[in-house]
Amino acid sequence: MIITNFKTYQSATAENAINLASIHQDVAKETGADIRISVQAVDISRVCENVNIPVLAQHIDPVNFGSATGHILPEAVKAIGAEGTILNHSENRLEREVLKKSIERAKEVGLYVVVCAETPEEGASFLEFDPDYIAVEPPELIGGDISVSTSQPEIIENAAKLIGSEKLLVGAGVKNGEDVRICIKLGAKGVLLASGVTKAEDPKAVLMDLAGGLV
Ligand code: G3P
Repeated sequence: MIITNFKTYQSATAENAINLASIHQDVAKETGADIRISVQAVDISRVCENVNIPVLAQHIDPVNFGSATGHILPEAVKAIGAEGTILNHSENRLEREVLKKSIERAKEVGLYVVVCAETPEEGASFLEFDPDYIAVEPPELIGGDISVSTSQPEIIENAAKLIGSEKLLVGAGVKNGEDVRICIKLGAKGVLLASGVTKAEDPKAVLMDLAGGLV
């Protein structure tokens, strides 16, 4: 599985989000790879109307219908077409109790959950909340050119031991098919990445290469 997190990159916002989502759809169709995208809450609706690949929210809040101005309501995210959500990304960390409640709310409305963790140990500590996936990303490598797979492969092996391969995603600096291949070989089910695609001159070529690493 490959999940591209569109974050708030300009190349992946509003109209650009739809274009980039279509490219992901093309590559998913051409390769048969399990490719998903995580877009800004404000873009979920239009992206889901335009492409038919799994879309995740980048975050939800543990709120209910009613008085929660400015929050992201899980029911709304589900209703406009998202299938899952990321929670606790390094760029949007949550208190443990808030994370627990957010996972519960996501499950209540039928959204699957990718919980991010900064270390394998932290990821393992989230198993008690029973998220669908746990994405381990060393924060210092996020957005950089050095990938977790080549610089810290022991993190992936350790995470696979502590978390188990079925739930494990890894990310940070993942840029090409070889990175993906190493992640899978060391025990991950997939990768979570962003800048390798969102900053690419030719995102389709990068995605084709990334998808090649899954097999
Ligand atoms: O959510 C994915 C992410 O934090 C990794 O970012 O740019 O290192 O692939 P990047």
